[in-house]
Amino acid sequence: MEISGNTILITGGATGIGYAMAEAFLEAKNEVIICGRREVMLLEAQKKYPDLHIKVCNVAEEADRKTLVEWINANFRNLNILVNNAGVQRDIDFTKGVAEYLTGESEIKINLEAPIVLSGLFIPYLTGKKEAAIINVSSGLGFVPAARMPVYSATKAGMHAFSMALRHQLLKLGIKVFEVVPPAVDTELNPEGRAKRGNFKANLTPEEFVAAVMKGFKDDIFEIGYRMTEGSIKASRADLDKSFQQMNSRW
Ligand SMILES: NC(=O)c1ccc[n+]([C@@H]2O[C@H](COP(=O)([O-])OP(=O)(O)OC[C@H]3O[C@@H](n4cnc5c(N)ncnc54)[C@H](OP(=O)(O)O)[C@@H]3O)[C@@H](O)[C@H]2O)c1
Repeated sequence: MEISGNTILITGGATGIGYAMAEAFLEAKNEVIICGRREVMLLEAQKKYPDLHIKVCNVAEEADRKTLVEWINANFRNLNILVNNAGVQRDIDFTKGVAEYLTGESEIKINLEAPIVLSGLFIPYLTGKKEAAIINVSSGLGFVPAARMPVYSATKAGMHAFSMALRHQLLKLGIKVFEVVPPAVDTELNPEGRAKRGNFKANLTPEEFVAAVMKGFKDDIFEIGYRMTEGSIKASRADLDKSFQQMNSRW
């Protein structure tokens, strides 16, 4: 993929991996638009990078998704890349019943339904554009699920399957579909879970991870892993089972 001269929308681009991608794409001379729910975070990002375009949007809400597509179509007709990055992560313990699942944010709506619907809504605008692409951010946990995050893991496995199928469908429209598969990265994701685990540190910054991802885009690597997830993408079922046992032994 040509990594300069694009117009790129990054959902959840005001923090973490999305923000590092926004920085890298700005640095590579692209027009970058970020969206998220917290205006204060979007404004902070724009203060640092005045060229950054921002839009408040909750991708879990049907009306917000529609407004986002209309706003992009009215203001950024050259949009050729959608990055489905926004996500949330929750520890959910089903041994206590369904209550934890039913309260709090819906990982299914934010991590899985939103990217699916946004992809569908944007495909007509991406079709026919030079270097058109959809970039989905999944997770290593989509390949090796974490027992303490069953729904999150399921949404990311869904994103992997969706990305594979969509990549195949969109070949005929000339739209490339990339899947970015982060390992654990030090971001704001799941602060409660991280606190429970003694403020676990992965010792991987979003910037270091995104530098590797940008190389993957340039080289047309359609499933981009890093460190542990580079192995997960290519692992056998036996290897994945072994990793699952190791990761979940203390659950
Ligand atoms: N960090 C990791 O270890 C890791 C590992 C594997 C995969 N990932 C994936 O990487 C992606 C980015 O996560 P991150 O680690 O960079 O965490 P992060 O810093 O918390 O970023 C997530 C972003 O998504 C936005 N967001 C959440 N819900 C949203 C909604 N309903 N509508 C619009 N925006 C929403 C958040 O902004 P607002 O709250 O302001 O909306 C935030 O900017 C996620 O898909 C995550 O699952 C992360």
